[in-house]
Amino acid sequence: MEKIIILDFGSQTTQLIARRLRELNVYCEILPFNKFPEKDSEVIGVILSGSPFSVYDEKAFKTNLDKLQELPKLGICYGAQFMAKEWGGKVEPAPSREYGRARLTFIDKDDVLFTNVDLDSQVWMSHGDTITELPLGWKISASTADVKVAAYRVEEKHIWGVQFHPEVYHSECGTKILENFVKKICRAKCDWNAESFIESTVKDLKKTLGEDSVVLGLSGGVDSSVAAMLLNRAIGKRLTCIFVDTGLLRKNEFNDVMKAYRGLGLNVIGVDASNKFFSELKGVEDPEKKRKIIGKGFIDVFEEESKKLEGVKWLAQGTIYPDCIESLSITGTTIKSHHNVGGLPEKLNLKLCEPLRLLFKDEVRAVGKLLGMPDKLLKRHPFPGPGLAVRILGDITPEKVAILQDADDIFISSLREWNLYDKVWQAGAILLPVKTVGVMGDERTYERAVVLRAVTSTDAMTADWAHLPFEFLAKVSNEIINKVKGINRVAYDISSKPPSTIEWE
Ligand code: XMP
Repeated sequence: MEKIIILDFGSQTTQLIARRLRELNVYCEILPFNKFPEKDSEVIGVILSGSPFSVYDEKAFKTNLDKLQELPKLGICYGAQFMAKEWGGKVEPAPSREYGRARLTFIDKDDVLFTNVDLDSQVWMSHGDTITELPLGWKISASTADVKVAAYRVEEKHIWGVQFHPEVYHSECGTKILENFVKKICRAKCDWNAESFIESTVKDLKKTLGEDSVVLGLSGGVDSSVAAMLLNRAIGKRLTCIFVDTGLLRKNEFNDVMKAYRGLGLNVIGVDASNKFFSELKGVEDPEKKRKIIGKGFIDVFEEESKKLEGVKWLAQGTIYPDCIESLSITGTTIKSHHNVGGLPEKLNLKLCEPLRLLFKDEVRAVGKLLGMPDKLLKRHPFPGPGLAVRILGDITPEKVAILQDADDIFISSLREWNLYDKVWQAGAILLPVKTVGVMGDERTYERAVVLRAVTSTDAMTADWAHLPFEFLAKVSNEIINKVKGINRVAYDISSKPPSTIEWE
């Protein structure tokens, strides 16, 4: 399958480049800046991303450009500066750092990268350095009022560079520029879609797995269910799915989900491991520790169960792209260890199979739909692998889980009743580790507070709090306080991501 490689130099917007290319039906992969695959004949072009560093920083990420050979290259911001500097140009600190909108005041119409891009188009700048001198023979392709080398090219070397960020929504001509790069310069066929993904993935899975058997950890969510259906198509009954009851699932979820899976013809085993999880989590308050314990707990159960089956060599998981990106940032900051990525032990006795690890959530849903997954499963809100453990702040006890399950159930059922469920990306309740004073009847109460969280999003990388109707929130708050013993206060979370995250831990 032809692909474009995006070399990640640590920019906040690297994932956006991938999204834009996928929207153009081009398959692409993000790789760390120094991990360009040497022997991959399917690569048809390379994009070098931006970076938080200046090219002159001691810590600046560098890559060996010779390895990129004759492939078409597009440098974005730092990527453009890096290539210009490495090939003998000059990059210097700009008189003032430039952030935000700018307009193209000059475009060289001979540059195919700018085909159908209009003069005066808005572009998004975000840089501290600027290219002051291009290597000999390189040509300026576009300028803005403040930046002479807003874009450059050197066709013989198959190199293009833009100082602005075409991947960002505010760059009006950004998609056109990326489209020109992939279609006119890399000559991409642009035939990557859910259908071709299924076809090539099933073929790859058959080849990689041979006659081996696989266990797959089902979470009840869309990702692992779609992974299961893909594997089912590739290897049929040699796939055994394991659905673990951690004790941290939503109310009635274990039984409901088991029923739904059996209806899909999947070979599923349900394992009640709630005692194990509760005892290992006892007294643990730190969110990262909770996540690691749960990640390891899942692996223990999978390894244990796989010993009972014959010929199992692989553990499959529904890991998707944002899980990998957020867990393993190349700049070294871990935001959260997603359980199916960060929680893996150093030594795993099973090989790992993650057929969806390069897909975004909406792409996973499109694949699921084509595989015949019913809407009821497909439209389920995302739910984190560590479950209610990351929605109970502080230590976890079965009593707290029961309180939260009841409050959460009222919230989610009400969203369905009011036809709001499908309008939000995900929702849930969070139990706070504080007690508050209230009055019920003539009695003083001193009980816990819950927070309701509902967000809108397209891929969970960014999210806004959902503007749910006040009447709805009032009804849910009333019902929770009246019906759930142990709660006397309800709050609504109005934070977006960033700077907050969707889950509280
Ligand atoms: P955050 O809280 O990082 O969440 O904004 C982004 C999305 O990821 C889900 N999430 C997880 N999913 N394992 C998962 O499978 C995890 O450990 C995990 N942590 C967060 C979260 O619910 C949201 O959809």
